Amino acid sequence: MEKLFLSYNQIHQTVKEIAGQINADGYSFDFMIAIGTGGFIPARMLKTFINRPIVTVGMAYYDLDDNKMDAPVITQWLDDPINQIKGRKVLLVDEVDDTRSTIGFCLERLLRHDPAEIAVAVLHNKNKPKSREIPTEVKRYYSGLELEDRWICYPWDADDIWEQDRQAVWSDPPEKGIN
Ligand code: G4P
Ligand code: MG
Repeated sequence: MEKLFLSYNQIHQTVKEIAGQINADGYSFDFMIAIGTGGFIPARMLKTFINRPIVTVGMAYYDLDDNKMDAPVITQWLDDPINQIKGRKVLLVDEVDDTRSTIGFCLERLLRHDPAEIAVAVLHNKNKPKSREIPTEVKRYYSGLELEDRWICYPWDADDIWEQDRQAVWSDPPEKGIN
């Protein structure tokens, strides 16, 4: 599959654009839930532009040998979901909306706790068939970039960050996400 290498600077810029979308939309959330591990760094970058607390949940779809498992598994969850979520406005942050299994699973679990609103922000949404729909309760969905299906190489996975940067030059810039 074609690979897309991205630098931290490109990610930072994409996060800034997502913040712009959220502000333009007038969504004022109480806190973010970052889906780990891919959502950790994007959530922290977003905090630079929209200063809200971050709580984290851990989900894994690939095991430690990088084999895809049958379903996403929870590796960490909220301490007190009922009190943390009920009546609050939440932004769920992840790096990529791929098959949507992980994000869909998280949304379904979080909606059980009656948030006032839950919205989704992802750096990248791949235009491909999804295993789940975004639940109808979720009215706001922000993506930094809409991409064709390809493997995105994130800088935090790089062994050699300088080589990552060299490969991260966009010869064919993807279209900016519109929301
Ligand atoms: P989704 O709900 O976010 O669409 O994700 P899905 O369940 O399809 O798969 C999620 C896993 O696949 C995540 O890893 C995610 O990082 C990884 N993934 C999907 N597409 C890409 C890609 O193009 N590039 C990279 N680098 N990863 C991709 P995970 O097992 O949940 O763990 P983690 O990497 O977030 O720790
Ligand atoms: Mg992830």
